[in-house]
Order: sequence, then structure tokens, then C-alpha cells
Amino acid sequence: MNLLELRNLHVAIEGKMVLRGINLDVPPGEVHAVMGPNGSGKSTLVQTLAGAEPYQVTDGQALFLGKDLLSRAPEERARQGLFLAFQYPVEISGLSNAYFLRASVNALNRARGEPELDAVDFLGVLRSELLAMEMKPELLERFVNHGFSGGEKKRNEILQMKLLKPRLALLDETDSGLDIDALKVVARGINAMRDRERGFLVVTHYQRLLDYVVPDRVHVLVNGRIVQSGDADLARLLEKRGYDWLLEPQRA
Ligand SMILES: Nc1ncnc2c1ncn2[C@@H]1O[C@H](COP(=O)(O)OP(=O)(O)O)[C@@H](O)[C@H]1O
Ligand SMILES: [Mg+2]
Repeated sequence: MNLLELRNLHVAIEGKMVLRGINLDVPPGEVHAVMGPNGSGKSTLVQTLAGAEPYQVTDGQALFLGKDLLSRAPEERARQGLFLAFQYPVEISGLSNAYFLRASVNALNRARGEPELDAVDFLGVLRSELLAMEMKPELLERFVNHGFSGGEKKRNEILQMKLLKPRLALLDETDSGLDIDALKVVARGINAMRDRERGFLVVTHYQRLLDYVVPDRVHVLVNGRIVQSGDADLARLLEKRGYDWLLEPQRA
């Protein structure tokens, strides 16, 4: 069974049509990259799947693990194993990062009928993941994303993903704004999670990340439609030729 199946998905924001009939299957064990120019609808796609507010599905269907996704509340989607790493991670005041991470892990553990972790057990897990992501321990004590650099926010998203162990991870430009060392750390974090069960939808504007996280499939989104799909070579072709050759002729 596919992790994700999108059929003719149409999404509007404030009455403006942004996604115009997306068809996409992500089988277990695969990394699919979604590339495309700015404004083509990449974030709209993953935000809609995660259940964010302003996105109105006007037509089509999304199945997650064979069941309708769009009728479920965002928390329910997360409990079923869907995870979104935000393009612009949000700051949360009054909540320490460590507390936030433990609360998210335990919410999922409860839903999965697994034991909750107390602060001490959790700290052990957290410390080793923090080291793997080469993050400073003080980032656990701060409010979520407060005073984090761009790169620290992105690392923190991957840290959260590694703790939550989703079935399907949607990563929205997790590579943007990273220097090459941080990019390698983030890529290593993603690759460490790859297995035969888990899938990834990796949204990226640039091919660079895909040198390190080699995708099974690459889809190019232009003006709300997938105009081209291929293997990892397609990403390398886009790096050379840009997106212009795929742009549709302007319509009125
Ligand atoms: N919250 C929003 N309110 C209004 N328009 C939006 C919103 N989010 C996205 N859009 C519009 O939808 C289109 C696609 O945006 P987005 O999905 O962010 O593209 P991408 O991630 O590919 O750069 C753009 O024209 C953008 O201005
Ligand atoms: Mg975007």
C-alpha cells in the first residue's frame, strides 16, 4: 500500500487556485523530491497535507496509508504518523524546547499505546540525538526556536522528526539557508531515518540537498501542476538548465 496517494488534488487560498490537479504516489521506503520555482505551490502542497488552516481543498483526494487524509484534524494526522518540517519554523514563547519535544513524543506514544517517557529517560534519548545533529545543549533550555539561527531552526526540525519517527515526513525547504556543513548534518539526519517502511516528500528549490539525500523520484511543480517527473538525474538536469524550459506558456 502506498503511504500517500494524491488524486487530482486542487487547493485554493482565499479563493485563488494554487494547486490545479496534483497526482502523486509515495510508496513506503521512497524519497520523493518536489522541486519548482518560487510560488509554484510547493509549500501549499505540504501544508495542505498537514492540515494547515488557510488551504481549501476544492477538488480531488488525498489518501494516507489508504485512508482519507483530508477529513482528519491536523493532530490526528500527526498521530497517524505524518510529520511536517516547516519552511519557516515557528517560535513558541513560554515553552522550553526540551519540554516541547518531550510533550510531542509522549502525545504520539500515548496514541500508539506505547509508554510515555519521563524527563530523565527522555533526556538520555534527546542528548544522543542532539549530538548527532551537532546542536548546542543550551538550545534545549530556550523557548522553542527563540534566538535560534536559521540553521539551528532547521536542525531542530530534523531533531524533532528523528524523535517522532513518522511514517511519512514532509520536509519543506529544510535545506534553505544552510551552509555546507549544516546541510551535511541535516542530510545525515534524514538518511539515518530512511528505511523500507518510511517515506519522505522533500521540498527543495535547489538540487544541492539531493546530492546528499538521493531521491527515488523527482517531481517538478510549476504553477500548481506536476509538469515533469523523473529519477535523481532530473534534479541534476534542473541544476544545469533551470526551470525555464518547463514553464508553461503564459495563459490569460
Ligand atoms: N497564506 C497565504 N495567503 C495567501 N496566498 C498564499 C498563502 N500561501 C501561499 N500563497 C500564494 O500561493 C502561491 C504558492 O505559494 P507557495 O505554496 O508558498 O509556493 P512555493 O512554496 O512553491 O514557493 C503563491 O502565489 C503565494 O503567494
Ligand atoms: Mg515554499
